[in-house]
Amino acid sequence: MSTDTHAPFEKKPGTPGTPRSTGELIRLEQVTKRFGDHTVLDHLDFSVDAGKHVTLIGPSGSGKTTILRLLMTLLKPDEGTITVDGEQLFPASEKQVREIRKKIGMVFQQFNLFPNMTVLRNITEAPVTVLGMSKDAAEERARELLEMVGLTEHLAKRPGQLSGGQQQRVAIARALAMRPQVLLLDEVTSALDPELVAGVLDVLRDIARSTDITMLCVTHEMNFARDISDRVLMFDQGRIIEAGAPEKIFSEPEHDRTREFLSAVL
Ligand SMILES: Nc1ncnc2c1ncn2[C@@H]1O[C@H](COP(=O)(O)OP(=O)(O)OP(=O)(O)O)[C@@H](O)[C@H]1O
Ligand SMILES: [Mg+2]
Repeated sequence: MSTDTHAPFEKKPGTPGTPRSTGELIRLEQVTKRFGDHTVLDHLDFSVDAGKHVTLIGPSGSGKTTILRLLMTLLKPDEGTITVDGEQLFPASEKQVREIRKKIGMVFQQFNLFPNMTVLRNITEAPVTVLGMSKDAAEERARELLEMVGLTEHLAKRPGQLSGGQQQRVAIARALAMRPQVLLLDEVTSALDPELVAGVLDVLRDIARSTDITMLCVTHEMNFARDISDRVLMFDQGRIIEAGAPEKIFSEPEHDRTREFLSAVL
């Protein structure tokens, strides 16, 4: 699954962006995170190989978002090590952190687009200012990405003129414009009206199928998780209580807690 490349992800000559890695891209070892005396992640170990799609499921408060925030260096672990593409995140110099963060794209529940910029500019801004891409190259790439997310005709609009689903697709295109190696997705459809969810999930399915990007995805959309995931990790109270292929987790869960959780959300 997911090792072939597709137009917006091919490394074109002269296109800034990090070369693709193979092998293990993300590794958490014995990671513990506490807030006060509440242990939110408890000696957590897992890794994600390049090009794979791993989905985190589990009840509210089990620590899923905390993992993504650690990877974004928005939080620091209390114990343990986190490695992205062979480089340790803590401790790391500011420069190292900046380089590592270029490899990671994130899409949140709230789209956080720049409200006063056009759709096109939302997508070209960071590649131009952070990666130093030329405006023309950034626009060419933005147009490819907008085509991929089905929004070509909206490129001159502002976010406020788009539906929530369209805005979220812009946010996905914006994250991909930085050519990240890994895309972190945190419940990207939970804030959407139900009729807009399918369009966003279709775009993500397409990205999962047709690009080489690594995905680490938190979702309550179990059919989507089943479709795109190479592995599913079931969290409870800051630990992985069960992990495996989606067919196994969704059809023959071993753990009572997984069965309970799935019967509540399916
Ligand atoms: N900044 C913070 N300060 C204190 N506690 C926090 C903070 N951030 C998260 N927590 C707590 O850590 C626990 C895990 O939170 P996290 O957001 O990772 O859960 P989650 O699995 O993403 O849940 P949900 O499915 O509701 O999004 C929760 O109990 C939460 O209240
Ligand atoms: Mg969360």
